[in-house]
Amino acid sequence: MTTVIKNGTVVTHDRSYKADVLIDGGRIVEVGEGLSGDEELDATGCYVMPGGIDPHTHLEMPFMGTYSADNFDSGTRAALAGGTTMVIDFALPSPGQGLLDALQMWDNKSGLAHCDYSYHMAVTWWGEQVFDEIKTVIEDRGITTFKHFMAYKGALMVQDDEMYASFRRIGELGGIAMVHAENGDVVADLQQQLMAAGNTGPEAHAYSRPPQVEGEAANRAIMIADMAGVPLYIVHVSCEEAHEAIRRARQQGKRVWGEPLIQHLTLDDSEYAHPDWDHAARRVMSPPFRNRKHQESLWAGLQAGSLSVVATDHCAFTTEQKRYGLGDFTKIPNGTGGLEDRLPMLWTHGVGTGRLTPEEFVAMTSTNIAKILNCYPRKGAILPGADADIVVWDPEKEKTITAEKQVSAIDYNVFEGHKVKGLPRFTLTRGHVAVYDGELRSRAGHGEFVKRPANTATNTALSKWKALTAPRPVERSGIPASGV
Ligand code: URP
Ligand code: ZN
Ligand code: ZN
Ligand code: ZN
Repeated sequence: MTTVIKNGTVVTHDRSYKADVLIDGGRIVEVGEGLSGDEELDATGCYVMPGGIDPHTHLEMPFMGTYSADNFDSGTRAALAGGTTMVIDFALPSPGQGLLDALQMWDNKSGLAHCDYSYHMAVTWWGEQVFDEIKTVIEDRGITTFKHFMAYKGALMVQDDEMYASFRRIGELGGIAMVHAENGDVVADLQQQLMAAGNTGPEAHAYSRPPQVEGEAANRAIMIADMAGVPLYIVHVSCEEAHEAIRRARQQGKRVWGEPLIQHLTLDDSEYAHPDWDHAARRVMSPPFRNRKHQESLWAGLQAGSLSVVATDHCAFTTEQKRYGLGDFTKIPNGTGGLEDRLPMLWTHGVGTGRLTPEEFVAMTSTNIAKILNCYPRKGAILPGADADIVVWDPEKEKTITAEKQVSAIDYNVFEGHKVKGLPRFTLTRGHVAVYDGELRSRAGHGEFVKRPANTATNTALSKWKALTAPRPVERSGIPASGV
């Protein structure tokens, strides 16, 4: 059975044009005018775009003494409801646990996925086993991206020597290094100082993680990656200091990408001053929300191209879980949701305000991510041969975000009360219509794992450049005799 999306405007990262899209066997087979198929989806007045790809989620992740509340079932349903058709989740070994062992745990959970998915791997410790298994992870499992935590001291944090060794290994195998850039030593000390001074509420979480800790770590990671010869992807960039480091590095020709989150673009640090403890604690994440100056920097970075993609870092905890940190802000589980809201919020505050064009919106929610992660044009494209992961976007459809109507399993929404204009009319995952005019028709287990090959064009170019500019011994004639 074939499906045709009719009467819409196809919007891709590089252009917009009137065309129908014909789908067969889960793939796009034709893009053009006057197409017909067995099933017809009417896209009159709509944009037909590649489905969103969220490069940063934590589904059912063991973290800070609990598990994030959305699993691959509720998390990927939430994704589809908001027009996202692929998520990249982080497989997280506990310190001392093997990478392959952690992947097995993730495989056990991801069978519930309603949309396609891939993994990043986290490097939370260093040793011969990790060194060896990185090769298997890249070459056999098709997982080429490795996150290093420069924060969460005493838990997931790695030291500079470990990070450098890991970066070198990843670089030589054609992978990409990722960092959570915050100086974990300074954060740990600030946390102690704040607690000792009686500063125990959720606002102290933000005080303990000022922009300087992020800017310093981002710059350090950039320099270490440059010396190790590996491309670097910096997750959840929240402030001008980190953005400045990325901007400067890119201007110098370094291969670095920055990923702001929809939360940091649209919510600010006044949330932590809220008189209701629950309200503030629900917004505790790392890095924390920042002020307007930082938000403007992030928007400008997206416009200028110094920042490349927009993610959610979806890591949702219930109010009950957040209350583990009553009386001690360092115990509030870090993380916020956003999977269902990323596209509508970015459209409303980006395209709706004129900060972004629709094509830029597609680039930063889908195509750029697919290119960086090496699954383009299978993902992130409206082209014959691509997977039919498509969102039919109605720019006139409106709603007010509320937890009461969300798909996520948690009991609140950090965007509660925000009005959005621009929502999916249909969301298709490999040709299956998972969202039909607001109605969810997705299936657990429909989602498939997407392998991603190493050695991207960026890796090849960087290796060539590093080989060309590598230190060489000076050829000398007439070496003086020793002892003269
Ligand atoms: O607060 C956050 N960001 N929680 C999720 C884990 C991480 O650091 O990405
Ligand atoms: Zn992180
Ligand atoms: Zn994260
Ligand atoms: Zn808003």
